[in-house]
Amino acid sequence: MRNHRGQFSSRLGFVLAAAGSAVGLGNIWGFPTQVAGNGGAAFLVIYLILAFCLAYPALMAELTIGRHTRANIVIALQAIASNGFTRSFGKYTGLYGVLVASLILSFYTLVAGWVLAHFTAHLCKLLGVSGIVPWLTSDNLSRNLIFAFGFSLMTIGVISAGVHRGIEVWSDRLMPALLVLLVLLIAYVLSQEGAMEGLRLYLVPDFSRITDSRLILSALGQAFFSLSLGVGTMLIYGSYIRAQDNLPAIGALVTLVDTGIAFLAGLLVIPAMFVAQKLGVDIYQNGQLAGGPALIFNILPELFDSIGFGGQVIATAFFALLTIAALTSSISMLEVPVSLALETTTMARRSASWLIGLVIFSFTVLITIYFDRLFGLIVTLTTTYSEPLVGIVLCLYAGWVWNRNSLLNTLRQGNPAIENSFFWKIWPVYVRYFCPFLIFAAFVQSLNL
Ligand code: TRP
Repeated sequence: MRNHRGQFSSRLGFVLAAAGSAVGLGNIWGFPTQVAGNGGAAFLVIYLILAFCLAYPALMAELTIGRHTRANIVIALQAIASNGFTRSFGKYTGLYGVLVASLILSFYTLVAGWVLAHFTAHLCKLLGVSGIVPWLTSDNLSRNLIFAFGFSLMTIGVISAGVHRGIEVWSDRLMPALLVLLVLLIAYVLSQEGAMEGLRLYLVPDFSRITDSRLILSALGQAFFSLSLGVGTMLIYGSYIRAQDNLPAIGALVTLVDTGIAFLAGLLVIPAMFVAQKLGVDIYQNGQLAGGPALIFNILPELFDSIGFGGQVIATAFFALLTIAALTSSISMLEVPVSLALETTTMARRSASWLIGLVIFSFTVLITIYFDRLFGLIVTLTTTYSEPLVGIVLCLYAGWVWNRNSLLNTLRQGNPAIENSFFWKIWPVYVRYFCPFLIFAAFVQSLNL
């Protein structure tokens, strides 16, 4: 069976795919929204600390377990278990992770559908076909379902093509396009009047906010979501890395790219809000800086509209950017249940992708119809609670359950001198004691509110 597994063809291929998974709506939409809602730079500072001190070690736990076991999260946790209890606990935690990945994909598809609709709207305006634009930009059921379905088809299409021809080839194409678009947009926005005010809010911290416990939990949830942790996505990508690649360095690179792009997205969106304000757009909602859909679908487009034809080109580019980022992430979520099906049943990749993809889309339909009741609930349950909790279990398995020599052997591949490295001195202890404890502490502190 092992010979039939897919594999990334190069180190760069893996980095782009893993960074493609990590960089998504969470970076370009979620992160700036959180910054705006949590007092600007204070959130940025806490986020950066948590991303490198907690999320990176947890990412390393997933990547190493994945590469050693060469399997999906359910089989992997059983494979490194040391007794009957850790074996069944691993199995159920793994299955729970697969469920969480599927639920995240179901709401992600809805949001990505909105983005795709707005991209289409701006493209239509650009081409002079504006009759359909009001329908495309208004929040209505048929539009939401049609575009979520379209996005779902794209996700399924890539995953059914496999690890190399699907995930890797598309990430290689899309990630560089994303970076170029982002930098061009930032250059434009920063040259506009009002941008400096936004820049100050984004970069000069108000330290009185830093001890706010809700801020810490939000930043933790955001960091885990942004690095695609706690559901087995990075674990399965890790299982497709070549044996000769150096894991700690690759993990660090992925973390850097992910936080770097989130930082750049903030550099675009926060100043853009203040540029829009100078143009007369109201950027506050209930006394707070607007975030979420209002920010992405109203405020930014008003800014783009005020520029005239050039603005239409920029708006189209911006929504293309968001769609690309969402697609390289959604494929990584679908790979989690699909890889489980491939490794535990006799199903072929193509049929597994379509079957599972369509089942998940039926959840998307439910969330779209019962939006008020389901959307917020599922987002909080999966991203704020489940991801860090499964993350704790993964750290405990890497730190306590898994035999240390076997762990060292996995890390030695691609990095023979690892025993003398700083990483080996710190990480095993860190992932054993500090990570689970600190993640847990962030929870307890927030529950005390
Ligand atoms: N990290 C992606 C983002 O920032 C979303 C994502 C992809 C994800 N795969 C995941 C989130 C797995 C949680 C779990 O948008």
